[in-house]
Amino acid sequence: MPKSVQIFNKISDHYEKFNFVSSLGIEKFWRKKLKKFVDGKNNLILDLGTGTGVFTEEIRDRGIIIGIDPSLKMIMRGREKREFIKFVLGVGEKLPFKDESFNYIVSAYVMRNLDSVEITLSESLRVLKPGGKMIILEFFPPKNIFFRFFYKFYLGIVIPFFYKIFYEDSLPVKYFSNSIFTFINVSEFLGLLNKIGFVKIKIVKNFFGISFYFFGEKSG
Ligand SMILES: C[S@@+](CC[C@H](N)C(=O)[O-])C[C@H]1O[C@@H](n2cnc3c(N)ncnc32)[C@H](O)[C@@H]1O
Repeated sequence: MPKSVQIFNKISDHYEKFNFVSSLGIEKFWRKKLKKFVDGKNNLILDLGTGTGVFTEEIRDRGIIIGIDPSLKMIMRGREKREFIKFVLGVGEKLPFKDESFNYIVSAYVMRNLDSVEITLSESLRVLKPGGKMIILEFFPPKNIFFRFFYKFYLGIVIPFFYKIFYEDSLPVKYFSNSIFTFINVSEFLGLLNKIGFVKIKIVKNFFGISFYFFGEKSG
């Protein structure tokens, strides 16, 4: 079982509320952008690290959606809320799908929680159809030194303080902050996509570079 799964099992009941409040509602706008990037109606789409499935809310009319995640509790919560997703228990490092199955793989805030980003990206490339697209949304620390300082203080001190008042344990949110500040940087992540073999790689920056969309295709 991946290391981060215990954390997500623990916070599954209030995961979506926590995301909304801790991002002051902003991350909802980034999620909504996904709709612009997924074309057509008859796709087979994999949501990698789907959690409760919230990322695919906006693209539910774009085809069949399969969500994979190793956290049983996140999946159970998702099943109650989102009947349109076919949930599968599993990890990105060993996708239980045939080669060249999917038109799209989408994945939000998962990369820095993986045991191996490299293996998961290779697996993703394997199960994408030729011409299929990978779309990743991920947090990164901002480059601006002042904003970075404020952001680190907000995520590492302010949020855990309030979280502890409501939920009596600040560990899960400290994990959240650490995972952002200890993950590889944007250029390293782009290098990895390139090394694994994705083509037509692009990025879109969100809100002063605290999150990015990454796009890559399987050559076809
Ligand atoms: C921050 S949550 C994101 C959930 C969802 N994608 C969203 O947009 O809200 C990260 C998710 O990654 C999942 N995860 C952790 N390790 C994983 C792995 N090795 N393979 C796939 N998913 C993993 C966790 O269980 C968790 O549900």
